[in-house]
Amino acid sequence: MKPLLIGGNWKSNKTITEAREWLKQFNLLATNSRIPKEVTVVLCAPYTMLKVLKEEMVAAASALELGAQDVSPFSDGAYTGEVNARQLKELVDWVIIGHSERRKNFMETDELLAKKVEQAQKETLKVIFCVQNETTPVPAGVKIIAYEPPWAISTVSNWKTEDPTRANLVCQSFKKKGAAIVLYGGSASPENVQAFVRQPAIDGVLSGGASLDAEKFWNLIKAAYAS
Ligand code: PGA
Repeated sequence: MKPLLIGGNWKSNKTITEAREWLKQFNLLATNSRIPKEVTVVLCAPYTMLKVLKEEMVAAASALELGAQDVSPFSDGAYTGEVNARQLKELVDWVIIGHSERRKNFMETDELLAKKVEQAQKETLKVIFCVQNETTPVPAGVKIIAYEPPWAISTVSNWKTEDPTRANLVCQSFKKKGAAIVLYGGSASPENVQAFVRQPAIDGVLSGGASLDAEKFWNLIKAAYAS
């Protein structure tokens, strides 16, 4: 089977208690039928629960890897409210940068995102850089891309899932520009994931809504690796 990367993006959802419950449920499902070694699953949770999730994942020898959803464009210093890459590195190996929700709601620009990528790379965090279409600029050194058309995100009104063949073309265009791994994101579900990961240029999915429910996320992972 081809290697797959499946990301779960919880966005601004869940408390620490809810995160613990989710992990307990996920671990029960995942230990009964093991995740194949070709499949990497990264859970990207809010900052507040990263420490607890990390500790519980280590204790349960979980197959999950942990990621953050953002990072400061600066290193240590007088940047009230920011969490920097050096701090994150104690807890996670992965970080999402450039999600369309950050561009839209927090006015993040290509220049700012390039600084975030630079900081993440200094600390050897693995960056999942989100692009919205073929023309989105990708900062130097980024190897992992998530193609997420903003109109396909399950929480926008009148969303619709991208056509897998068209998604493949967009993902292929980023491979041609040097990306090693390209994911599709936007209403990925247990029902539609196979149509995406069967495409030659798509190496997995980044899932928002479907990752909030442990069983649904597990079903999505299972469907992906069964494809
Ligand atoms: P969605 O979100 O799966 O709920 O559409 C994906 C994302 O925004 O990463």
